[in-house]
Amino acid sequence: MAEQPAVNRQVLGSSPSQGAFPTTLHLMAYRAKSVIASWQSQSISTRILRAWLGITWIYGGWDKASDPSFLTPGTVNYIGNQINGFIEISPIGPLLKGSLEYATFAGWFILILEFATGLCTLLFILPRFAAFVGFATSVGLWLTVTFHVRPYFIASDTAYAVMWLAYFFVLYSSNKRIDINMDRRGAIRIGSVLAMTAGLIGLGKFFPRESAQAGGGKRIVKLEVLPIGAQYPFTRANGEAAVLFRTRAGVFAYSAICTHQGCEVKFSKKSQHLECPCHMAAFDPFQDAKVVVGPSNASTKSIRPLPKVDVKIDGAYVVEV
Ligand code: FES
Repeated sequence: MAEQPAVNRQVLGSSPSQGAFPTTLHLMAYRAKSVIASWQSQSISTRILRAWLGITWIYGGWDKASDPSFLTPGTVNYIGNQINGFIEISPIGPLLKGSLEYATFAGWFILILEFATGLCTLLFILPRFAAFVGFATSVGLWLTVTFHVRPYFIASDTAYAVMWLAYFFVLYSSNKRIDINMDRRGAIRIGSVLAMTAGLIGLGKFFPRESAQAGGGKRIVKLEVLPIGAQYPFTRANGEAAVLFRTRAGVFAYSAICTHQGCEVKFSKKSQHLECPCHMAAFDPFQDAKVVVGPSNASTKSIRPLPKVDVKIDGAYVVEV
């Protein structure tokens, strides 16, 4: 299989080797021919794999670029909120904790990385490096976003990791030479990818997705970061603290304001209760938040259960009704 494009150097007309300096038009024609040649030189199965991976990664970048809340602190879909959710469910959660203060920077990095990986794959610029980055990104998403999904084949990150790895080895086995060419033409190609990435990010900001507009105020969290058995503290639209739960039966939530004197209760993984730090009252969230321990060991009847908060699953999100 000959995966390396059969570059037609005659397209240059006046290549440097012939002593003349190539014009911009010559370089553009050369690049166009190179891209086409790279597709022509690949088998149909490799082309399908390459096209699907490249388009999907560009779509992933577009999904983030056109989401006004992705890089906006204080909104439900902000990357920092997503990382915060991943800390609870990811096997590399402790490593993610340190990245929280750089969440916006991490969001920009992921956004640019996805666009650049997709473009490089489709345009055959640093193809093996792009394939490796695609593989590493998929593994990263699996470890953070979908590690908790059972059975694993319901989530797509493991499948993408395998696809990128297979594509990488197709490229690797087709040519042992290092394909990173940092001569003038290589630098222009990389510059083109960065320019296209910047253009796509700008377009995404110019055409924001309506469904992702910030300020809707009702979305609580993406369902994918709330595995069955998880809890998620959140702030209600009215500013009140609350705690969301997901079980096999669905999602439900309670106000986190203690009905005794208004302190904020927290969920204890040890007792499986919502406990108040002020006078030690405890509520059972799995039995309608009934009082299981009264304040300062007073009667359980001396205070009310925690009020329920109406929530539901709406598409990919849990929302406050
Ligand atoms: S305020 Fe919660 S027990 Fe008193």
